[in-house]
Amino acid sequence: MKLNNNNLLKTGSYINGEWVNSESGGTFDVFNPYDNSLIAKVSDCGQKETKDAINAAADAFKIWKNYSAGERSKLLRKWYDLQIENIDDLATILTYEQGKPLEESKGEIKYGASFVEWFSEEARRIYGDIIPGHEQNKRIVVLKQPIGVVAAITPWNFPNSMITRKLAPALAVGCTCVLKPAKLTPLSANALVVLAEEAGIPKGVINVVHGHKASVIGKELTENPIVKKLSFTGSTEIGKLLMAQCAGTVKKLSLELGGNAPFIVFKDADIHKAVEGAIASKYRNAGQTCVCSNRIFVQSEIYDQFNTKFREELLKLKMGNGMDKDVKIGPLIDTKAISSVEAFVEDAIEKGAKVICGGKRNTENENIYEPTILSNVDTNMKVFKEEIFGPIAPVFKFDTEDEVIQKANDTPYGLASYFYGNNNAQIWRVAEALEYGIVGINTGLISTTVAPFGGIKESGFGREGSKYGVEDYIEIKYLCMEI
Ligand code: SIN
Repeated sequence: MKLNNNNLLKTGSYINGEWVNSESGGTFDVFNPYDNSLIAKVSDCGQKETKDAINAAADAFKIWKNYSAGERSKLLRKWYDLQIENIDDLATILTYEQGKPLEESKGEIKYGASFVEWFSEEARRIYGDIIPGHEQNKRIVVLKQPIGVVAAITPWNFPNSMITRKLAPALAVGCTCVLKPAKLTPLSANALVVLAEEAGIPKGVINVVHGHKASVIGKELTENPIVKKLSFTGSTEIGKLLMAQCAGTVKKLSLELGGNAPFIVFKDADIHKAVEGAIASKYRNAGQTCVCSNRIFVQSEIYDQFNTKFREELLKLKMGNGMDKDVKIGPLIDTKAISSVEAFVEDAIEKGAKVICGGKRNTENENIYEPTILSNVDTNMKVFKEEIFGPIAPVFKFDTEDEVIQKANDTPYGLASYFYGNNNAQIWRVAEALEYGIVGINTGLISTTVAPFGGIKESGFGREGSKYGVEDYIEIKYLCMEI
């Protein structure tokens, strides 16, 4: 990997301002998902290092919470500036360990940095309240205070932005953090920390623990009473487990979990725009995002026309190494991911689905799964019920608005949803009827720092980004004064 600043490549954990190896001396391997080449050996830490990190964060909290809002704001701003200055290197590291095309990685770095910029500004606006007292001689004042030590557990599909989306609001309000990044993508996390240190963020405010046994680190983070809050992005299955583990110490939680996004195209939609949106929402990161459209529903009158255009556009997407120019579809993260996608397609074909394009691994690189469209799909198939997390687009046919709303909501998940149409009344009806935290209307790209990202139902709770993003890191206290 060729970088301008080799100092960004660190393989230790980062505890109390020091890069440390695990006490056992063990390491775990990090591979490039495109060609399986070894790119790093990272310190394999466990419970002891996690405890050390929590204690360091607790000590730093005593100091950091007393920094003025302006001081915290300036340090975050500096961190943001450094991320933008180092965008090429950060993107290269990201593509090497995650596989997504370099342009997408740059997009992620900008997206990630935008949370730091946004919350550097919000840091100055953590306003309290004065409430008219309930008796003549009573005065009530509401204070907003940082919750304390925050644990953040982040996924491999966005190795940069899911970290900044949690750490930036936490730091902005005065919390300190212990981060456990995904073991498949630890290097992006470390590069961010190098820049945080350079920005002047004091020791102990951000700590990072790497380890291949996520359950050991997760257990300590969820059961240690010093940790006051856990923010997790990942699967619903693991989210439920962490939630149960946090019950013992009644931690505040933010959970951004799985999705099963419907993408509905009504017959009066602009088909070209709808296809463009379907590609943007389905094939970003080769289908490996929680907000990827999972089930595409197209009204019967335009079903064939939509599929023809969709196929035509998909065939233009270049597959390959994310570092190569013009590549739009990179590898899936690992062989487990490939097998899982294959199982979805096999199940659908067995139950009568037709492959319109794709439906197999790329012949030049086995780690890439071809962008796939399935027609003749129905609600008994895995592709209807489960999150695919890969480049497979099942296209369902529907007749009426009521039918498609019922099907779209027929899932325990409730993160993102999308629809295309041109009838104003229908747009309002459908937007209100969809049981999802996010609704994209005539757009396939809904992610932005300025909006409250998050789900309902088994997709979790809590909101990230926007003016709401600080609330999950704040305690509300009121003072009731008799005068
Ligand atoms: C995710 O997949 O978890 C996040 C996607 C996004 O922020 O757009």
